[in-house]
Amino acid sequence: MNKRLVVGLSGASGAPLSLALLEGLRFFPEWEVHLVISRAGERVLREETGKTPEDLRPLAHTVHDLDNIGASIASGTFATQGMVVLPCSMKTLAGICHGYADNLLLRAADVTLKERRKLVLVARETPLSLIHLRNMASLAEMGVVIMPPVLTYYNQPQSIEDMAGHLIGKVMLEFGLEFKGFRRWPGSKDLG
Ligand SMILES: Cc1cc2nc3c(=O)[nH]c(=O)nc-3n(C[C@H](O)[C@H](O)[C@H](O)COP(=O)(O)O)c2cc1C
Repeated sequence: MNKRLVVGLSGASGAPLSLALLEGLRFFPEWEVHLVISRAGERVLREETGKTPEDLRPLAHTVHDLDNIGASIASGTFATQGMVVLPCSMKTLAGICHGYADNLLLRAADVTLKERRKLVLVARETPLSLIHLRNMASLAEMGVVIMPPVLTYYNQPQSIEDMAGHLIGKVMLEFGLEFKGFRRWPGSKDLG
């Protein structure tokens, strides 16, 4: 049976990471990717990669319209394995935290929470205000995985792509997907 993952792209810095995730998911054709992009996400995507949502169409099963609050992913009856918001802006994080679901990205995250499915937020801002930290703590209490895109050196990255690949590998492992090129810490194979 096919599996489904909802991917939200919001207006924080890190659009190249979203592209890396979508590229990584292509190695798993049995996973249907449902993509939704916020308005600010579109802008940052353009500024950081020169791409438009149209360019991402080949990387997803469906690219949903942000205003279509009647889309499949807006309903809990549409079975998915969960959702990743990458990158996750502090505004989108606040919306998810407080159930303020006024666009399809926020609604899909709200559904993920209410259906007790896995929700991973690659939350990006620096420095973090107390509001950001409190919202993250509340979300963590709800079982949400807060995974900021922090730098990693133990994998000895040779390029920014290596850094991105490592982060994407960790995001995908949250859904049990082993990303090619992701180097685990030696000996951790069976521990996940
Ligand atoms: C180039 C650019 C980079 C931004 N980076 C961040 C960021 O890293 N984190 C953040 O929380 N907001 C960032 N913002 C601000 C958000 O885009 C803004 O708060 C927006 O309202 C978020 O809307 P959304 O959550 O619906 O995507 C950035 C904006 C721009 C134009």
